Amino acid sequence: MKVINTIETMRIWSQSIHLQKETIAFVPSMGYLHGGHLSLIRKAKSIAQKTVVSIFVNPAQFGPGEDLEKYPRDVDRDLILCKNERADAVFLPQKDEMYSPGHFTYVVNEQLNNVLCGRRRPGHFKGVTTIVAKLFNIIDPDISVFGQKDAQQAIILKNMVKDLNFRTKIIIGPIIREADGLALSSRNKYLNSSQRRNALILSASLQYAEKQFASENKNMDQIKEEIIKKINATPECKVDYVEFVNAETLLGDYNKGDKVLLAIAVFVGETRLIDNTILTC
Ligand code: PAF
Repeated sequence: MKVINTIETMRIWSQSIHLQKETIAFVPSMGYLHGGHLSLIRKAKSIAQKTVVSIFVNPAQFGPGEDLEKYPRDVDRDLILCKNERADAVFLPQKDEMYSPGHFTYVVNEQLNNVLCGRRRPGHFKGVTTIVAKLFNIIDPDISVFGQKDAQQAIILKNMVKDLNFRTKIIIGPIIREADGLALSSRNKYLNSSQRRNALILSASLQYAEKQFASENKNMDQIKEEIIKKINATPECKVDYVEFVNAETLLGDYNKGDKVLLAIAVFVGETRLIDNTILTC
């Protein structure tokens, strides 16, 4: 496995793969890899000849007062995990090369930037689309693999690829959960043992909605209220948002038979966790 630290070396590597007429699948990450990332790497390996993982904690997607400084990092462990998954290359750029002085160009989805997580984290998706556009330009992947846990990110990036004519195809891997239902996330590391237990209210809320839909109660306003009540009644938990939106557009426009995304964000102590499920209305 090659560990590549500069943009130029990354470009040369990708070009050499394309010259050999091989395909590249790309898994972007901010490191501190968990089973969710590993499932994306496995997916990437199954659909392309070469797999590249990037590890870069992107400062542009953290707002003031967010957890940029304390975001968990363990590059040595990440490299071992990537090697075990037989990734072909890991792109590990330096912050100063990705954002050199005088970097004032950004990529923004002006419609979806300000809904769901975007409303709570202004500038977050501008940072995500900008770094992912830069990584696409550097790595030139045939296929890029993202996780469904970040459902809004996945849709915004699909839109970016379409709107800006990137040639990469986006594939979304399913949410990977612990045995008790908690969605895997690098931020789970922040939870102490009681918070870890209380955080199960996220997956329990989604299961509650799934059961209601299965029993033909599709009154989304009522289900949303119930979920908000249950979450706020759970110790150390506070709802950030609970929203039903069209699963394709992320907007509030859905008709009978459409897929709706139930997306939730909850503060468990200081830690903000997200989770989601897709239902048919
Ligand atoms: O999902 C993430 O880990 C990040 O948002 C991404 C896509 C790697 C961009 O920094």
